[in-house]
Amino acid sequence: MLMRPLALRPQLTPGLPFSVGLRLCHRRYCRPGYTGEHCKSVVSLALEVAEHLGLSPERQRNLEFAALLHDVGKIAIPKEIINKPGKLDPHEWKIIKTHTVEGQKMLERVGGFMRQVGLIVRSHHERWDGGGYPDGLAGEDIPLEARIITCCDTWNAMRTDRPYRKALSHDVAVAELVSNAGGQFDPHVVETFVRLVAPADQPDAPQANAAVAVRAPAPLIAGSAKV
Ligand SMILES: [Fe+2]
Repeated sequence: MLMRPLALRPQLTPGLPFSVGLRLCHRRYCRPGYTGEHCKSVVSLALEVAEHLGLSPERQRNLEFAALLHDVGKIAIPKEIINKPGKLDPHEWKIIKTHTVEGQKMLERVGGFMRQVGLIVRSHHERWDGGGYPDGLAGEDIPLEARIITCCDTWNAMRTDRPYRKALSHDVAVAELVSNAGGQFDPHVVETFVRLVAPADQPDAPQANAAVAVRAPAPLIAGSAKV
């Protein structure tokens, strides 16, 4: 899997406030363990898709930061809601959905190119069919960078063990992306991901395949299982 260290990527503009974004992320959201590993993988996948789609170096830089920081707004959400083990009630869902706008506000305050990153972060829960949040954007009105993150974030979530299920197999995860292309996901992004990025994802361990066969019925897709 392609994953180059942020600081070594030549297209990143020298002197830009790496440390600002990374401090924001590592302070709470990207602490070591589950969430931190999740971030890195989404960044790596998103950059691979961006390269295949021919995004400019500047847009790749913005995507890189947005993929790393897409859930940074959860810092503003009460821990009791973030860590609630059971189902969220409608009021709690309303609050947790604000992490998109809260994340944008944080990055807006950082200034510079982080304002552009914030626009992507704001839209990472929009859906291609218009059923997402916070603005209900649809199709190409959603920033392409956000559409890439949505696809890669969901892939990573499906391929990772969760408290309520084991990681899905490669083939099941591909099928989920394809079946939701044109609904939750940009079909062109999914096509690029499935054709060029997913084949290089780590092969299934035997236990992962076995886990799929016995997994409890649970929401698979980011829009329902993950915020
Ligand atoms: Fe999110």
